[in-house]
Amino acid sequence: MDGLSSIQSTLNPRWCLAYDTIDRHDIDRLIEWLRTYPRLTKGAVTLDFESRWSRWLSRSYSAHCNSGSSANLLMYYALLVSGRLRNKKVIVPSVGWVTSIAPAIQFGFEPIMCEADPETFGLDLNHLEALLKQHQAQAVMLVHVLGVPHKMREMQVLKDRYGFILMEDACAAIGASYEGRKVGSFGDLASFSFYFGHQMSTVEGGMVSTDDKAFSDLLLMLRSHGWSKDLDPATHRDLVTRHLIDDFHSPFVFYEPGFNLRSTDLNAFIGIGQLEKLDWMTEQRRLNHARYLDRLREYFYVQQAPPGSQVASISVGLVADSREQRRRIVQSLVQHGIETRIFSAGNLGLHPFWTSRYGTASFPVADRIHHCGFFLPNHAGLTAEDIEAISQVVLEAA
Ligand SMILES: Cc1ncc(COP(=O)(O)O)c(C=O)c1O
Repeated sequence: MDGLSSIQSTLNPRWCLAYDTIDRHDIDRLIEWLRTYPRLTKGAVTLDFESRWSRWLSRSYSAHCNSGSSANLLMYYALLVSGRLRNKKVIVPSVGWVTSIAPAIQFGFEPIMCEADPETFGLDLNHLEALLKQHQAQAVMLVHVLGVPHKMREMQVLKDRYGFILMEDACAAIGASYEGRKVGSFGDLASFSFYFGHQMSTVEGGMVSTDDKAFSDLLLMLRSHGWSKDLDPATHRDLVTRHLIDDFHSPFVFYEPGFNLRSTDLNAFIGIGQLEKLDWMTEQRRLNHARYLDRLREYFYVQQAPPGSQVASISVGLVADSREQRRRIVQSLVQHGIETRIFSAGNLGLHPFWTSRYGTASFPVADRIHHCGFFLPNHAGLTAEDIEAISQVVLEAA
């Protein structure tokens, strides 16, 4: 069975927004492996997955965890305990996901919300610079919205000018690239999500990647209670010696107030299989995205990827002219059995978790996405004919 027919056989007849990238072949392989009665908790397979992931991404270190949200939590807390921040101000996106921001609130940062860029829908560069000047924020959280890479050359100029630490949330942008580099290879720390419907899945899962050994050590400790057992032997030994700890105690000494955000070798086994077909799956998404835009970009406000970048969208987002036009289109999509939803989370500055603490954060672009945006299906199981049929429904309703 080739990749496409294997996917289609797992779909129900209507057009779903997402499909399970874990197909029958993956499940068969998993069953075969389980019959060998392997260790299932985090162990050698996780290490293998992490090193394959780092190689695929061209980064030095990666830590597998149990979700993209956990990956974000780890990034924020590693940053906090790293001692590298002179203040706790962090600039966060208005368009992204709640858990791109939630750890800032949970860990007592001062989050400052930024308007969405009118082209990529990532951080608006002019607003970002004004906020950096005004607040001297030490950290910035960037989301590559829906698999459209942000303008990383311009971000790097701002990073050099203002010296902030960049957290890159690539949870919904796995496999997208900018000037030949995969997204998630730009920030000091970068997160990925392997939830159902994303470019690849480990059922639930996430990853944090970095080139910074000190950050990597912190991530590994914080992921597992704050102990040093997961560090390389030399670093573990160095900590043990520095803290005058004897060998009997050393596996259960806690150097940081950690969490347990580990995943398992079972999920890592699935992840290794997904990595093998990831480039094929993201290429299908890129082709589908281009097909949709060819049909629809002239009639709708859509994200524009920067020159030299490759999109890997998890859904295709469109922004209607008005709430009324969106209502009509959504109604027609539903009637035709085409799944749809709001555009990501719209403007996070309009959600109660934010407004109840900081008041409403209203911005022209983010608000328009909030009130007029909607999703169309994009996954590797769609054909050119599917996309034509879905586009036709949208155009007729519009
Ligand atoms: C931008 C972004 N960040 C973080 C997450 C959270 O990932 P997870 O669902 O694996 O916790 C998502 C989920 O879709 C996301 O889109």
